[in-house]
Amino acid sequence: MNAPQTVMAINLVVNGVQVAREVEVRTLLSTFLRDDLGLTGTHVACEHGVCGSCTILVDSQSVRSCLLLAVQVDGTNVETVEGLGSLGSLSPLQDAMWREHGLQCGFCTPGILMSIEGEVRSGASAEAICDEVLSGHLCRCTGYQNIRTAIHAYFATKDES
Ligand code: FES
Ligand code: FES
Repeated sequence: MNAPQTVMAINLVVNGVQVAREVEVRTLLSTFLRDDLGLTGTHVACEHGVCGSCTILVDSQSVRSCLLLAVQVDGTNVETVEGLGSLGSLSPLQDAMWREHGLQCGFCTPGILMSIEGEVRSGASAEAICDEVLSGHLCRCTGYQNIRTAIHAYFATKDES
């Protein structure tokens, strides 16, 4: 009998860069992003899909990276918070969060940003994002009000441009 395959080659695009790696088949996607690719903006807390801090986009759909294996994203387009913008060059959504004080410690923020980004791409309204997306993210600091304000500010800027 053949020994079970424990390592697999995967090819994917991460934040616009082609990536080819060999990974243990049991490696979580969140671990792969953080430990193999050094993309530590993807935060990990609960590791069972509840807190939302590990949220990223896979083919523009928001997913919990702690609930997927790295091998499951073979052939996909993955986006993490590092792909949104950078220090000195924030995305409009990041800028709105910063201007409206939508974060305090910032632990939950990358996951929230990626969820919002996914919903904006699918055409969701500001209200729908405030009601539905935020309910899938645990934030222990802000009380959510300033995040909601930031989302509305972002939509106001977006609608003007
Ligand atoms: S760490 Fe993935 S949802 Fe909490
Ligand atoms: S800003 Fe601290 S957990 Fe959300």
